Amino acid sequence: MTAYDLSQTLSRRLTVLGSTGSIGVSTLSVVAHARATYGADAMPLEALTAQSNVEVLAAQAREYRPRRAVIGRPELLGKLKDLLDGTGIEVTSGKEAVIEAARMPAEVVMVAIVGAAALPPALAAVRRGATLALANKECVVAAGELFRRTLDGSRATVIPVDSEHNAAFQVLDFAQGHAIEKVTLTASGGPFREWTRERMESVTPEQAVAHPNWSMGAKISVDSATLMNKGLELIEAHFLFALPAEKLDVIVHPQSAVHCLVSYADGSVLAHLSAPDMRTPIAHALAWPRRITSPSQRLDLAALGRLTFENPDRTRFPCLALAEACLRSGGLSPTILNAANEVAVEAFLNRRIAFYDIPRVVEATLAADGSNRAEAEDLEAVLAVDRRARDAADALCRKLAA
Ligand SMILES: NC(=O)c1ccc[n+]([C@@H]2O[C@H](COP(=O)([O-])OP(=O)(O)OC[C@H]3O[C@@H](n4cnc5c(N)ncnc54)[C@H](OP(=O)(O)O)[C@@H]3O)[C@@H](O)[C@H]2O)c1
Repeated sequence: MTAYDLSQTLSRRLTVLGSTGSIGVSTLSVVAHARATYGADAMPLEALTAQSNVEVLAAQAREYRPRRAVIGRPELLGKLKDLLDGTGIEVTSGKEAVIEAARMPAEVVMVAIVGAAALPPALAAVRRGATLALANKECVVAAGELFRRTLDGSRATVIPVDSEHNAAFQVLDFAQGHAIEKVTLTASGGPFREWTRERMESVTPEQAVAHPNWSMGAKISVDSATLMNKGLELIEAHFLFALPAEKLDVIVHPQSAVHCLVSYADGSVLAHLSAPDMRTPIAHALAWPRRITSPSQRLDLAALGRLTFENPDRTRFPCLALAEACLRSGGLSPTILNAANEVAVEAFLNRRIAFYDIPRVVEATLAADGSNRAEAEDLEAVLAVDRRARDAADALCRKLAA
């Protein structure tokens, strides 16, 4: 392959798990851009999956022509069949069908399902040696050791899509691991960066999902508002890059232009910059180790004028401190943290609990579970702890809502 020949890169088949979400839609816009730029055959699609958004899934399938379209909720299979009648696209449904989609022979699998539900299909893609463009962070947080072990025993490659981890992947000198002093992830600070704790007590779901810089799904937007997102990302970085807790740090950077800084033993600091547009890390992950053009916004530093940095406030944002404590204690505590947070965020989005009830539920669930120091033996063990933590968190949410 010559320096300018992208044919091998663009001929790789792609599966998008969670194609109807924020990352899924951005992924398909990168595919559309690649097809418009390089030819209609670029990035052929193997499978698209969604959970319940059957109309959007069908419209995407008609436009992008995957071999298979999969809907997670079985009761929507008939509707998907009707919507794709006459297209020749295979149609399946259910949890197992989503895992089966990850097993189909696509060279690249975009993992853009939200929450720990991504874990079984992500592991299935790892086991068959695919290249994973990994947007989902919850599966690495919930089952970090297991994920790492499965990855190490496979031929799979993981290219992180989460912007900070994709940035780290680009500036980390993996051959000089001993010389890495610190990896610093940046956080925008979310919509409440300058709010008092008192004012944040009565935050609504609408206010929490209105992120100042990024356009994202509801769950991650709330995680950004509580700074749990940054805590989950520290744990994700620990497992993805095999870095100990003391080499991982967070800094608030409201302009979201710098995504990650890597400090080396000689005093050098390498940073990655881009406009806050997920299509940049998505295009990087889909084309790695080559680079393709993407439709993302370009960074305009003169227009930004100033880049500022400040330390996070762990008193107003206790979720960050909770996640950091789990990163340090290890074992299954990140599994419990993640499960309790998913339940609490959903309860907050459904107006059943208040904004600060999210850290209350997470902290109480962690305190009540005796298994947080144990290690995960296998997927079943992780899923059992995850289920128990969800039940405990749900009971706490019910109590708070009563
Ligand atoms: N959005 C961002 O900018 C961003 C940035 C960095 C990392 N991430 C990470 O990327 C992941 C996706 O985020 P997002 O913002 O794109 O989420 P989202 O907009 O909520 O989309 C989630 C996708 O997952 C599907 N899904 C939901 N529950 C499912 C289940 N139980 N089983 C199978 N599929 C399911 C959804 O299908 P339906 O549409 O049918 O419900 C949808 O396609 C998250 O882990 C997030 O932390 C996102």
